[in-house]
Amino acid sequence: MQDLFGRSINYLRLSITDRCNLRCRYCMPADGVPPLGHDAILSYEELLRVARLAVQLGVRKIRVTGGEPLVRRGVVDFVAALCALPERPEVVLTTNGLLLADYAADLARVGLARVNVSLDTLRPERFREITRREGLERVLAGLAAAEQAGLAPLKLNMVPIRGVNEDEIIDFARLTLRHPWEVRFIEFMPFGQGLDYPADRRLPAPRILEELSRLGLLLPVSRVGNAGPARLYRYADSVGQIGVIPAISGHICSECNRLRLTADGRIRPCLLGDQEIDLRQLLRAGAGDEELCQALLGAVCAKPERHRLGDGGQVRNRRPMTGIGG
Ligand code: 5AD
Ligand code: SF4
Repeated sequence: MQDLFGRSINYLRLSITDRCNLRCRYCMPADGVPPLGHDAILSYEELLRVARLAVQLGVRKIRVTGGEPLVRRGVVDFVAALCALPERPEVVLTTNGLLLADYAADLARVGLARVNVSLDTLRPERFREITRREGLERVLAGLAAAEQAGLAPLKLNMVPIRGVNEDEIIDFARLTLRHPWEVRFIEFMPFGQGLDYPADRRLPAPRILEELSRLGLLLPVSRVGNAGPARLYRYADSVGQIGVIPAISGHICSECNRLRLTADGRIRPCLLGDQEIDLRQLLRAGAGDEELCQALLGAVCAKPERHRLGDGGQVRNRRPMTGIGG
């Protein structure tokens, strides 16, 4: 699928739940967000139908996200079904890692290719502060289990936030000296709505790079194929890689290759824009495959050329991150 700006759209992100077992301060209010009702969420059958059609239209990679996808019952069977689609898309998953130790082996067995684990601190006390929950040890056990299960290369997503965890950038970077992991630093996107960290806490990508350079000379790694928005680097003696994702400051929109499906069945052409196309309504009104494909193609055509957030811009989405899945 090609959009109006010549971008090839071959990547679908499926949010399968808006619920989460953490309460990260930059993502959720302390009491969580009012959960979507059971009927609001797409069933696995509905999700699979959308995925099947998207793959027929050219999607090659599917990411399962949340909320936290591993809290939804039946996720392993769902991943198995995605992997078994005739076109054999690459299926990956983003998780906060809390339940990963329980699921890694099963997910790998049914064909999951890789996982991205979101982790913003390596310090137990700070983990409690940022996520408002216990669990660092379980996440670390999850990383070990994923590695053991062959879900490689493991990717770690860290969101550096000014005055919160910026002093750990080097600690995370150091992990790549010992582990064949891709440690990725994602520029904080200030999704307003009274969350605990305002826009000025964003650490712009150049600042992240500056910090990373204190550990050693950063060597750019040339990217192969559809590497996504991450800019890749390594140190001379690292076994893993560093990724930096300039979500706001970089001009990454020109490389955007994705569609997103929210947990309640809306296609979002752009993460940072509120336009949505209601697939759920179509699905439940008995739409045929042809009509659903038209809606997917319509969403591709609705992708804006780029987001309009400048320096310090607050994201003014009506929908919180929890129902989109990053
Ligand atoms: N800015 C940047 N990244 C975010 N994530 C969640 N909220 C934000 C935000 N406001 C990240 C999570 C996870 C991925 C799904 O998105 O840390 O790695
Ligand atoms: Fe959950 Fe991820 Fe949001 Fe943290 S950032 S509360 S792990 S959905």
